[in-house]
Amino acid sequence: MCGIVGYVGRASAASVIISGLKRLEYRGYDSSGLAVLTDGGLATAKSAGKLANLEDLLRQRPLPGGSTAIGHTRWATHGGPTSANAHPHLDNAKRVAVVHNGIIENFAALRAELAERGHEMASETDTEVVAHLLAEHFAATGDLAEAMRGVCRRLDGAFTLVAVHADVPDTVVGARRDSPLVVGVGEGEYFLASDVAAFIAHTREAIELGQDQVVELRPGSVTVTDVHGEPAEVRPYTVDWDVSAAEKGGYDQFMLKEIAEQPKAVADTLRGRIDAEGNLTLDEIGLAAHVLREVDKIIVVACGTAFHAGLIARYAIERWTRVPCEVELASEFRYRHPIVDSRSLVVAISQSGETMDTLMALRHAREAGAKVLAICNTNGSTIPRESDAVLYTHAGPEVAVASTKAFLTQVVACYLVALHMGQARGTADTAWSGDVATVKRELLGMDKLLSQVVEAMEPVRELARSLRDKNTVLFLGRHLGYPVALEGALKLKELAYMHAEGFAAGELKHGPIALIEQDLPVVVIVPREDSPLHDKIVSNIQEIRARGARTIVVAEDGDKAVVPYADHLIRTPRTHSMLQPLIATVPLQVFACELATARGNEVDQPRNLAKSVTVE
Ligand code: M6R
Repeated sequence: MCGIVGYVGRASAASVIISGLKRLEYRGYDSSGLAVLTDGGLATAKSAGKLANLEDLLRQRPLPGGSTAIGHTRWATHGGPTSANAHPHLDNAKRVAVVHNGIIENFAALRAELAERGHEMASETDTEVVAHLLAEHFAATGDLAEAMRGVCRRLDGAFTLVAVHADVPDTVVGARRDSPLVVGVGEGEYFLASDVAAFIAHTREAIELGQDQVVELRPGSVTVTDVHGEPAEVRPYTVDWDVSAAEKGGYDQFMLKEIAEQPKAVADTLRGRIDAEGNLTLDEIGLAAHVLREVDKIIVVACGTAFHAGLIARYAIERWTRVPCEVELASEFRYRHPIVDSRSLVVAISQSGETMDTLMALRHAREAGAKVLAICNTNGSTIPRESDAVLYTHAGPEVAVASTKAFLTQVVACYLVALHMGQARGTADTAWSGDVATVKRELLGMDKLLSQVVEAMEPVRELARSLRDKNTVLFLGRHLGYPVALEGALKLKELAYMHAEGFAAGELKHGPIALIEQDLPVVVIVPREDSPLHDKIVSNIQEIRARGARTIVVAEDGDKAVVPYADHLIRTPRTHSMLQPLIATVPLQVFACELATARGNEVDQPRNLAKSVTVE
């Protein structure tokens, strides 16, 4: 939520900022703005709406040149998405400019206090108080980094702040608490950004900043301290992907590209973890075997699509570890006083590693003594930093707001964790499950199966286009097909803005069947023919069809039983029943993407959403 870029160097800072903001626009696209340090002054431009509006404005009214600047793309919290509320925000003398991501919880008290001292506010935002406080602290100290430290000590809430002052040339300062900020180290230039994507076209060398740290960028130096001015430890690292990974690569939309990348993302997530002989090595997560053996309860916490990956994880964890597993929405977890102790393992799943609800859930779990294992796609982000252990998915950067390749790799990572724990506990291959060798073998061939699925999606696209005028689509599944149904419905809601709901098919007759009416599209995920649930779901298909539903059946190759009852049949390659979600989800992603496009929606940037939800 909100993307931030800062730059100190030799290039035209405005161009660097705009190109950085373009790569961060997935974080929010309600408004944008920038401030450039000019010869002794500060030039700003801001505009409501997408970044393209700001670019138009800059074409009509270019800013004076300068090589130090900050910029922002906004997802609105306090105050509507207007130009007045767009960042940067300035002090009354217009010497300080600040951009912000997060929420300043005590802003009302600070605003009242500043008003008493004669400050006048120009926006409805919580951010503006920071510009005014920073101006006061700078007037008192004459040191911008020290002023930022002083301001941070006065703020409650979560924030990333980046600021410049017209009296301090060639300098950008930043601070972070519970919100991301990364330094990019280039040749004679430095960057500050919410995400490495903003500077990946310039450098892959980055420095991860820690909690409550303040950074000062000047030509030739990066200085990091804590909020009291003590030198802070930081972790330099090299980003393991390049600029091409963050570009559309010939696709019309990032989402299409990311769907097509799924075979590779899955293969990359398995690489080095299962070898060709089926040996599984996951020592990298850093949880000792005795810890895994002592765990008596596993709780998965996550939000949105990652929560659906967690629902799938439960089947794998209980099957291969025989440890009871709960899956909880991270936003609900800490408010019910969950029973968690030192023998609990909490698994926090997050693509971004920044989701505030998930972060708060993991902090709560750690305070209660639990060990936390993060499954994350973003190196150095807050959730893995604050966890006891981490397993990275290797999906590469996911830019489209709707999660696709991150989901599949989260599911794969959950299978690996479940198999690894089962191996440590001696429970993986029991008489009851007895399928580990097959699962590992089929996982290793999963990239090829996924490629087949991705390449065979034209009929799904055609079907989606034919349904563009519908208002509602329902999704039904059982067992592992149930989270797939939930995920299919979420994708359709967020992209096509349609009423879409996922149900456990067994629940149908307990209520939802009342929704069925003539020609209502219902997508049904059918388990393998040898599953005890197969015939039951075929009966469900007959029941809804008898009541007028238009059935869209996702079933494996060779399943003949479904043919008479399918108005539309989406065939998928056969795989082990535990792995079916990896295959069955792909057509639902394509379905939602195409339906949204047919309805004229912006697939990569759906309305009201931002990719990373960094506020509760
Ligand atoms: O970065 P995270 O995985 O923690 O994000 C969780 C959800 O916000 C995310 O999956 C969201 O539901 C996606 N927009 C779904 O496509």
